[in-house]
Amino acid sequence: MAEREQWGSRAGFVLAAIGSAVGLGNIWRFPYVAYENGGGAFLIPYLFALLTAGIPILIMEFTMGQRFRGSSPLTYARINRKAEWMGWWQIAIAFVISTYYSVIIAWAISYTYFSFSLSWGDNPEGFLFNDFLKVEEGVGYFGSLVPGVLIPLIIVWATTLAILFKGVKKGIELANRILIPTLILMFLCIVIRALTLEGASVGLDAFFRPDWEGLKNPSVWVAAYGHIFFSLSVAFAIMITYSSYLPKKADINNNAFITAFSNSGFEILAGIGVFAVLGFMAVSSGVGIDDVAAGGVGLAFVVFPQIINTFPGFNEFFGFLFFGCLVLAGITSLISIVETYVAGIQDKFNVTRTKAVIVGGGLSALISLVFATQNGVNILDAVDYFINNFGIAVSGLVTVVAMGWVFRKLPEIKDHTNRVSDFKIGSWWTFCLMVVTPIILGIMFVQNLVTNLTSNYGNFDTDFVITFGWSIAVLAIVFGFVISALKWQTGKNQLSVKEIQEGKDDE
Ligand code: ALA
Repeated sequence: MAEREQWGSRAGFVLAAIGSAVGLGNIWRFPYVAYENGGGAFLIPYLFALLTAGIPILIMEFTMGQRFRGSSPLTYARINRKAEWMGWWQIAIAFVISTYYSVIIAWAISYTYFSFSLSWGDNPEGFLFNDFLKVEEGVGYFGSLVPGVLIPLIIVWATTLAILFKGVKKGIELANRILIPTLILMFLCIVIRALTLEGASVGLDAFFRPDWEGLKNPSVWVAAYGHIFFSLSVAFAIMITYSSYLPKKADINNNAFITAFSNSGFEILAGIGVFAVLGFMAVSSGVGIDDVAAGGVGLAFVVFPQIINTFPGFNEFFGFLFFGCLVLAGITSLISIVETYVAGIQDKFNVTRTKAVIVGGGLSALISLVFATQNGVNILDAVDYFINNFGIAVSGLVTVVAMGWVFRKLPEIKDHTNRVSDFKIGSWWTFCLMVVTPIILGIMFVQNLVTNLTSNYGNFDTDFVITFGWSIAVLAIVFGFVISALKWQTGKNQLSVKEIQEGKDDE
C-alpha cells in the first residue's frame, strides 16, 4: 500500500485549511446574510454559532482525521462499521457542491476578463442574464449549453484537476502557499480603496448598526448556524480529509482556532469592503442602502459591475481585482471540496490518486455542464439552497449526535486532541457538541422542513423543487448507504487504532 501523503509543514496545512474555508461564501454570502439579519447585531449570533458549533466541530473533525488517518468514509468506518455511510453522505454533499461551485468560479473568470473593457455596459443585470447566461423562458429544464460559460468552466476544471494530480504537498499545499497570500493582498487593496470612497461611512453604518430587536427572531440564529458550516467547510468531509494528512503529533486546537479566526476575519473584512462600496454607490446615486444591497449572484455579478462603472478611477483595475479575488478564493475551496472524494475513492477502491482524480473530478466536471446551460442559474439556486439546508446542516446535526450520543466517541477525541495540542480544551467543548449544537440544529431542521413543505423555495414549480432540491438531498443519503455496503478493496477499515497510529496502513 502506498504511504499516506503528508503536508510538508504546519503552515502548509493551516494555509490549505484557510484556503478551503475562505471561499465564495465569505465574499458574496456573508456580507448580505449579516446585513439581512440585523447588521451589527448579527455578529452576536454569528460569534455564538462560531464558538458553540463551528470551532467545536472543526476541532472534532481535525482530530478525527488525524487520529483515524483517513478520508471521511474511512475515518467513520474506523470509528464504527455502522458509521461509514455518514462519510459517504458527506462526500456526496461535497460532490454536489463541486458541480455548481465550479460554475460560479467560471462566471468569475469571465467577469475578470470582462473587467478589462467593462463589457457589461450600463445595464449589468440585462448583460448577466441575457447576454452572458442567455437565460430564456420556455427552454425546458435545461436549454442549450452556453459557450461563454463552458469555456471558463473547462479552465476551472483543468486547473483544479492539475493541482490535485500533483498530490497533497506538491499540489494542494503549493497552490495554497501561492494563492492565499495573493488573495489577501488583492483583497486588502480593494478594502482600502473602498474605505476611502465617498459614502463609505454610510455603508459601514448600515452594516454595523445593530438591530437588537432582530436578535429575538429565531431565524436570525438559524441564519448564523446555517452560514457557519458552509463557511468553515465543516460537516461535508473536507476538514476530516485535510487533517488525515497531518503528522501524527501535529497540534490541533491551535490550528483550529487559527483557521476559524482567519476565516471570520476575512469574512468580516469582506463585509466592511462590500458595505463601504455599497455606501459609495448609494450616496453617488442618491438612494438608500436597501436599494443597492443584494445577495449572492445579484451582489457579485450585478451590483459590483454597477459599482465598478461608477468608480472614480482605475475602474478596469478594480474590476479585475474583485473578480480575480472571487476566482482565487473559489479555486482554493474547490480543490478541497474535490479532494474529499478523491481521497474517499483512493481509500475504498485501492486505486491511484491519478485514477481517483480522473474518475471523481471527471464525473463532477461532466455533471457541472448542467449549470452551464441556459437554465443553469435557476438550477444552481435550488441545488445550493437544498444542499445547504438539507445536506450540510443536517449532516452536521447527525454527525454530532452520532459522535456524542450513539458512538460516544467525544471523550476519546478530547483526550487525543489535548495530548497533541499546546492548549487544552475543557468540558465546554463536550457540552457544545452534545447539548447546544444538537438542540439548535434540531430546531433549525424542523423549522426548515416546515417552511419548505408549506411553500416552494424561490417560488419555483413543485416538480422543479422536487427534482433539483429534495431528490438531490435525499439521494445524497441513499448514496451514503449504497457505497458503504460495498466491500473495502484495501481492507484499511479493519485496522485497530493502535495499528493506525503505528502506521500499519502505510506499509
Ligand atoms: N468554505 C467555502 C466557502 O465559504 C466552501 O465558500
